[in-house]
Amino acid sequence: MTLPDIANNFLQKSIVSLDQFDRKSVETLFKTTDTLREQVEGARVIRLFEGIIATLLFYEPSSRTFSSFATAVKKLGGQTIEYQNPNQTSSAVKGETLEDTVNVFENFADIIIIRHAQAGAVKKAAEAAFSKPVINAGDGAGEHPTQALLDLYTINRKHGTLDNLTGLIAGDLLNGRTVHSLLKGFSLFKKNTVYLLSPKQLRLEKSMKENIKKKGVKLIEIEKETDIPKHCDFWYWTRVQKERFADLKDYERVKHSFILTPELVKKKAGTDTILLHPLPRVGEIDPRLDSDPRALYLTTQIRNGLFVRMALLSLVLGKI
Ligand code: NCD
Repeated sequence: MTLPDIANNFLQKSIVSLDQFDRKSVETLFKTTDTLREQVEGARVIRLFEGIIATLLFYEPSSRTFSSFATAVKKLGGQTIEYQNPNQTSSAVKGETLEDTVNVFENFADIIIIRHAQAGAVKKAAEAAFSKPVINAGDGAGEHPTQALLDLYTINRKHGTLDNLTGLIAGDLLNGRTVHSLLKGFSLFKKNTVYLLSPKQLRLEKSMKENIKKKGVKLIEIEKETDIPKHCDFWYWTRVQKERFADLKDYERVKHSFILTPELVKKKAGTDTILLHPLPRVGEIDPRLDSDPRALYLTTQIRNGLFVRMALLSLVLGKI
């Protein structure tokens, strides 16, 4: 079964990949996000989710995404059933399949939000669901659609557009699921150029690169920090994904290939270059940058994630 296109109608659809989106659907999501953010920032209590229950099944560790989804549901007046590490705390311990677990929780919850260590597992879960939508909160080295949507929202809010931008994505492009979704997101917009900076072993996979290029994004692979063009609209730094390495020695060799420092920013960034990172960071951003007004990773980017998730859940559940 293929995943449904959103085609500007989110109602009851599972959200697994940025492939399901088109430009209009992203714009609708952002408009809804703006509406909800105004209400939250105006300290208004929103009760759109009265009686709604969301199940969170997180088979992989998470702090931001888990809390962001849980907060989104609760801010809207809904409730959550929360499983962190279901491999140890749910019937998965007894050998229950992910598909069965999803079918069970459908009896209780209106929506099921899943993070899983295997790429493709959330799609399988969505296909197994009888009647409730499933949201991908990160599937292995596959995708992380809501992270990409909040990244795009953040860039759009800062630059007022998602067309004609030049950006840099650095780090683990092979395994970084947020990067995969983000590039697919950019491919929905026009005339964007993205520089890709990674160690050779962690380059974007060839077929994905070709697909993104075919859709019109200009991708330029670079190998050294000196090749970063001046004055990008955004820099998106990422962590080398330790958990995807079979041999930790290989990880150690590449983990700090590229570090974002105030010196590099001074040399290559412009006054409008926003600095993004999905987090967690593990040494690839110098904390001296945290107070730089262009550094959004610990503040605006995370906050935007809450609003984008509130909007997405509301649209999927038809509550707005
Ligand atoms: C990312 C993830 O889990 O893919 N974190 C997140 O959800 N914000 C990035 C990462 O773990 O490196």
